Amino acid sequence: MYTFFKNFHSGFRYIVFILVLIAIIQSLAGWLGKKPYTNGNRKMNLFAMISAHTQLLIGLILYFLSPLVQFASSTMKNNELRYWTVEHISMMIIAIVLITIGHSRSKKAVAPEAKHRAIAIFYILATLVIVVAIIQSHRPLLGMTN
Ligand code: HEM
Repeated sequence: MYTFFKNFHSGFRYIVFILVLIAIIQSLAGWLGKKPYTNGNRKMNLFAMISAHTQLLIGLILYFLSPLVQFASSTMKNNELRYWTVEHISMMIIAIVLITIGHSRSKKAVAPEAKHRAIAIFYILATLVIVVAIIQSHRPLLGMTN
């Protein structure tokens, strides 16, 4: 069970990365190139957000299966246990909230430029938080652990 969800969560990051990166590239091109906001743009931004929410759900299941998540007073003194029990979940939830805010601001905005800009800014910020969080885990940004 644990290994299955760990591999699933680990592999699913690539889906999140790819969809969020495509959404960022499209929104930057749309914002800076003053392009219309198409239905294709809207769908890509939505799929990227859904992938992040799916990763949150898989992460939550994994959170209760992982031996590295421990609720004990000694957890805070151990870098690895503290990272997986407190830091990973906190930073990733912040990133997913940023994606959700960007998506909702884009939906509310009327001008195409403002719609693209909301996605570009919030999705880029979220990606930075995700990358920093993975670097802090001392696990490979791309690639799985056993
Ligand atoms: C966009 C969001 C997220 C990304 C990109 C992400 C990415 C990752 C990566 C790359 C790993 C290491 C996998 C490996 O070593 O092969 C991992 C592990 C883990 N993640 Fe996430 N994560 C995200 C969100 C979350 C959330 C929200 C939670 C908790 C609710 C969570 C809980 C965990 C746990 C418990 C582990 C496993 C630690 C272990 O037992 O080795 N993740 N995550």
